[in-house]
Amino acid sequence: MPGIVIVGAQWGDEGKGKVTDLLAERADTVIRFQGGNNAGHTIVRDGVEWKLHLIPSGILHPGTTCVIGNGVVVDPSVLCGELDELKRRGIDTSTLRISSNAHLIMPYHLILDNVGENRLGEAMIGTTKRGIGPAYEDKAARLGIRVQDLLDEKILKQKIIAALEPKRLSLRPFQKDPRLDVQAITEEYLVYGHRLETHIRDTARLIWDDLDAGRTVLFEGAQGVLLDIDHGTYPFVTSSNPIAGAACVGTGVGPRDIDEVWGITKAYATRVGSGPFPTELEGELADTLRESGGEYGTTTGRARRVGWIDLVALRYAARINSLSGMVITKLDVLSGFDNLQLATGYRGEDGAEFEQFPYHQSVLHHSTGRYIEMPGWSEDLTECRAIEDLPEAARNYISFIEEFVGVPVTLIGVGPARDQIIWTDASEGTIPRGEA
Ligand code: IMP
Repeated sequence: MPGIVIVGAQWGDEGKGKVTDLLAERADTVIRFQGGNNAGHTIVRDGVEWKLHLIPSGILHPGTTCVIGNGVVVDPSVLCGELDELKRRGIDTSTLRISSNAHLIMPYHLILDNVGENRLGEAMIGTTKRGIGPAYEDKAARLGIRVQDLLDEKILKQKIIAALEPKRLSLRPFQKDPRLDVQAITEEYLVYGHRLETHIRDTARLIWDDLDAGRTVLFEGAQGVLLDIDHGTYPFVTSSNPIAGAACVGTGVGPRDIDEVWGITKAYATRVGSGPFPTELEGELADTLRESGGEYGTTTGRARRVGWIDLVALRYAARINSLSGMVITKLDVLSGFDNLQLATGYRGEDGAEFEQFPYHQSVLHHSTGRYIEMPGWSEDLTECRAIEDLPEAARNYISFIEEFVGVPVTLIGVGPARDQIIWTDASEGTIPRGEA
């Protein structure tokens, strides 16, 4: 099982951090392949909470090499802050590797993210305002500054000047802002370069060596398929590709290096930021679900929009990522609902019915779920450790999802702690089970 990709099968926040943390213990290397510190992973180990935005969750395991791949956009001030915090709490961070080709988030990207959102007004995307979009824009415009540029003062300064030039108009109101002083930015970023130098590597080669030696590499996705810039609910998406195919591009391996792709989904659905959400709930039911699921963003603290599970979108996620396994998290949160709704189709504004994810954004915007109803359960699931421990209604709920989506469920989450998990028979042979 040398190459396994973990991706979000919804709109992000599915609990990928917890799954990566579990699998990282059984892997040699964990590499992130896209996104940046717009992601937020919460991991609970021995009752202690860890929040990571950039460094792969595997860092908590001594002996696991953690890598930030070329497809990630790196805010070095956030990265240094995370390194400091981990060190302060006694974690060895010496195994962290950063791709020399990863692009940097610069102070002007943060300003431009805000400017862009303000300009859109009501039509705003609801970004995390971490400068992600503007950093990827510069990468595509070939005006990006890469991690390796931190090691050469002259090149760094020249590139900052070149990158600022075409942004002059948008940045005019900030002309006197100290955050835009070229000399100050150069000096600040050189300091990051000194701090990070020992971690910078040709990370593609590192992954090739691992795979060639039969070691297990975990490719850790951020966000989720419906936030994909090509395949998500554009323009209400992030600026990278969170799908499994991007694990190759964002790390430098080929498709044949990937053996397993696991999609993570909550037992219900959530979304942060604007954009279509056909199964969205409002009112009391939404408040109950939000409260019991603790649905507030790790990165921005925003209240998440919540809804019923969307099997149309999940089937889409399964196909686009060629999922070999599905992980259902937070099943425990659904305890106490008399009945549960599962969207098996959509209904358009004019009453038209859709079995597939509609390709036109206006259709999707006005679609609502067409549901089947299943009986809920009242039992507390947090102590369940085997599928047989679950009440029949919960088992039926899982089986229905599995059959509809056509992908076996490998893991079921029943609480935030790392041991609150059920390994199903389908996970057998995919990754070493039990204690690592
Ligand atoms: P950006 O990635 O900050 O540009 O934000 C674009 C969209 O993606 C917004 O709707 C964000 O709320 C959403 N988004 C970005 N990262 C995450 C994440 O890690 N979880 C959930 N939503 C995210």
